[in-house]
Amino acid sequence: MDKKTEIIEQVEEINAMPRIALDLLGMINEPGITISELTKKIKLDEALIAYILRNCNSPLYGIKTEINSIPQALTLLGFTKLKTILMSYFNKNLYNITGKDEINNKLWIHSISVASYSEAIASTINANQETAYLSGLLHDIGKLIIYSSDNDTLEKVLEEIDESKKESYIIEKNILGFNHMEIGSLIMEKWKFSENLIKVCKFHHSAEHYNDKNKYICIVAFANILAHEEIEESQIDLSFFFNKYRLSEKKFEDIISTGLELKEKYLQF
Ligand SMILES: [Fe+2]
Ligand SMILES: [Fe+2]
Repeated sequence: MDKKTEIIEQVEEINAMPRIALDLLGMINEPGITISELTKKIKLDEALIAYILRNCNSPLYGIKTEINSIPQALTLLGFTKLKTILMSYFNKNLYNITGKDEINNKLWIHSISVASYSEAIASTINANQETAYLSGLLHDIGKLIIYSSDNDTLEKVLEEIDESKKESYIIEKNILGFNHMEIGSLIMEKWKFSENLIKVCKFHHSAEHYNDKNKYICIVAFANILAHEEIEESQIDLSFFFNKYRLSEKKFEDIISTGLELKEKYLQF
């Protein structure tokens, strides 16, 4: 069995996967789905019930009534906001799977950071902010999958990422024979994620060369650079994005400050 198949099979065996949230994400997209059908499913996962109630009582969703039941929560939230909550729950649970706390935490903070910048960029260029947030949140799911597999070669990947100045996907390809975009999009296809999310996962490191109607590829590619720039000193050329979005310095500064504000907020969940 090659390494790619081996890793995918390991992920499929993990029982702690937030399956219910994943099923619900699929159900929400079905035409004619009802609140009572969704409630039935949500009730299978106690932690998810608590998470939904806690989140919709938070000021982020601007609901003034106190919510005590799932049908009430779903009615007031609407399906789009429920989707965001489910994604964030799914994502949070996913970050337990590597079994390596430091890596989990680093990847989790990175995904929140990219999601926040993606939302900030979307608000500047009039794209859908929730889609941008979700796209950013899940763009590096392949890394999580690679790092959750138990293999000596992974140590090598991590060491080399730390030591060299090369991009992680180049090192992954050299050592493993595939990168996090390839494995991430394969898993997303298996999990029946939307075509748009799969494309973001596949192309977020090559947006400049990829012409697609899906504007979220570029948004996430830009957000990914901004999130890395926060911690690294290297100056990356951003002219492609400045030209594409006709950004003034002022607009760019707005993206950065909004992105940082959103990140602070989302990290509190
Ligand atoms: Fe990536
Ligand atoms: Fe990333």
